[in-house]
Amino acid sequence: MSASFNPADDIEAALKAAAPAAGPNPSDFTPEVRTAGPAHGDFQANGVLAWARREKLQPRALAEKLVAALPPRIRDAYEVSIGGPGFINFTAQPPVLLEWLLAFPSRAALATGAAGTGRHGTSIVDYSAPNTAKQMHVGHLRSAVIGEALCRLMAFGGETVIRDNHLGDWGTGFGKLIFAYKRWVDPVALAAGPIEELERLYKLAVAATPDGSAELEEARRELVRLQAGDPENVALWRNFTEISLREFDRIYGKLGIRFDHTLGESFYNDKVAAVYRALTEAGIAVESEGALVVFHPEHPRFKTQPFIIRKSDGAANYASTDLATILHRVAHFHANRIYYVVDKRQADHFEQLFLTAKKWFAKAGLPLPVLAHVDFGSVLGENGKPLKTREGENVRLKDLLDEATERAYALVSGKNPDLPETERREIAAVVGVGSVQYADLAQNRSSDYLFAWDKMISLDGNTAAYLLYAVARIHSIFRRNNLDPSGPDAGPQAGAPETAGELALARKLVKFGDALRQATDALRPHFLCLYLYELTGEFSGFYTADKVLVDDPAVRARRLLLCARTLLVLETGLNLLGLRTLTRM
Ligand code: ARG
Repeated sequence: MSASFNPADDIEAALKAAAPAAGPNPSDFTPEVRTAGPAHGDFQANGVLAWARREKLQPRALAEKLVAALPPRIRDAYEVSIGGPGFINFTAQPPVLLEWLLAFPSRAALATGAAGTGRHGTSIVDYSAPNTAKQMHVGHLRSAVIGEALCRLMAFGGETVIRDNHLGDWGTGFGKLIFAYKRWVDPVALAAGPIEELERLYKLAVAATPDGSAELEEARRELVRLQAGDPENVALWRNFTEISLREFDRIYGKLGIRFDHTLGESFYNDKVAAVYRALTEAGIAVESEGALVVFHPEHPRFKTQPFIIRKSDGAANYASTDLATILHRVAHFHANRIYYVVDKRQADHFEQLFLTAKKWFAKAGLPLPVLAHVDFGSVLGENGKPLKTREGENVRLKDLLDEATERAYALVSGKNPDLPETERREIAAVVGVGSVQYADLAQNRSSDYLFAWDKMISLDGNTAAYLLYAVARIHSIFRRNNLDPSGPDAGPQAGAPETAGELALARKLVKFGDALRQATDALRPHFLCLYLYELTGEFSGFYTADKVLVDDPAVRARRLLLCARTLLVLETGLNLLGLRTLTRM
């Protein structure tokens, strides 16, 4: 028997195969094998209950028949028991644990295993997507961090992933910015801090163009000129985008993000007219007070709350471009799934967008991709209100990551004062940024989360520093003894785990695949964070109880194998979350 990357899949398949011998209508039976809670073995099948309910059978009796029909290879590999009203519990025997440890010796092997059970086709992830001519602030953190982790998880699971940065680079604001730029740009300031200068100009523009003013009219004319392709205005606008992208790329570099495409709202400028036409002809969109809108009569709110897809002044808006974007993603990229990693305050927009696209695609006979709003809550300060600077401004992402690195430097210097300064700086960059990423990912994304420096940059608790420190510590075990964790030192000659500490650690390691499945299916990276945290806890328990470098070569070999695999799973898992790891800390 060859080890499944996620043993739950193997058990699931065996239960499915055994079902015809156990009860009626077996094709309706879904075993639902999942990682078990503590004291219920390693994996648990919950699906018998629903099956028994459907067939009006006694669930325990049905579970017993099912277990009796399992093939010997599963009954040998697992200790099988029936718990509660009819749950089936599977506890892996030591040889299966060893088999898994030997079958997945490298990141490549893990990836092959994960991809074997993953989804196919193309997924587009729409994330980060800041508006240009402004700096990214703390409100832009979550989409970038969560989006990147999801991309990595999906790609590891075998999907083709396309990362698309849907920049907010179009709209009325640019008329105002051009208006202010032409009057008040300070060339010296622009050279020294381009994005800061654009922000300053934009603030001036807003103040100088109150409703009803001649200045506002002039700003509008600038916008019309831009939209009509006036060379001067187009060149200015291009420059705004370039300045912005240069600024964003610094942040993306720190967060390990590289987009495949940066198709901002402006890209769809010439594609919205076709959308108006299609939706009008299909009878989905109607004119209302000069605007083009879509109502959804079947929806309690959207039957009266319009989805405005063209403004009354004829201009395109956020909805127009998002509709054109879906069509482009299907027609050009053949997207099977599109994920929008966007603040949950935009829930209505996406719900209306998806309802509209569904009706439109049905009429047009186009394949509708899976459309999902991957929402998230706000970042709150320690006072429970949205995080702001002392002056009440949005915290700039750049400053936030710099502060994280400074704080991590203090942590590292306290822990390891003898390391050379340059090395401590390098470590601090990884720990600092990683702490911010991890604190965000470790929360259920749908809730708001409290940004607390002291909890986030700490060696205790479910933090990046705690996990990165475990990684560095395992590296040092190998390094101090001139051993290579990815070579034969941790390898084939090892026997199955024996002591309580070895067994607990091995049991946790084999659940990596199920943790990945859970995080990817639910699009919730916190499942993987929790797993890595618990794995690190098991490793500490094992390492405290069982000396690794003992003289007995058999004991030593199996303990080194466990150390090497813990290292591999931690490094792979942290990397899938978007973090870099260290060999020393
Ligand atoms: N630029 C938008 C904002 O800052 C986010 C865009 C999200 N993506 C999308 N396709 N609507 O709110």
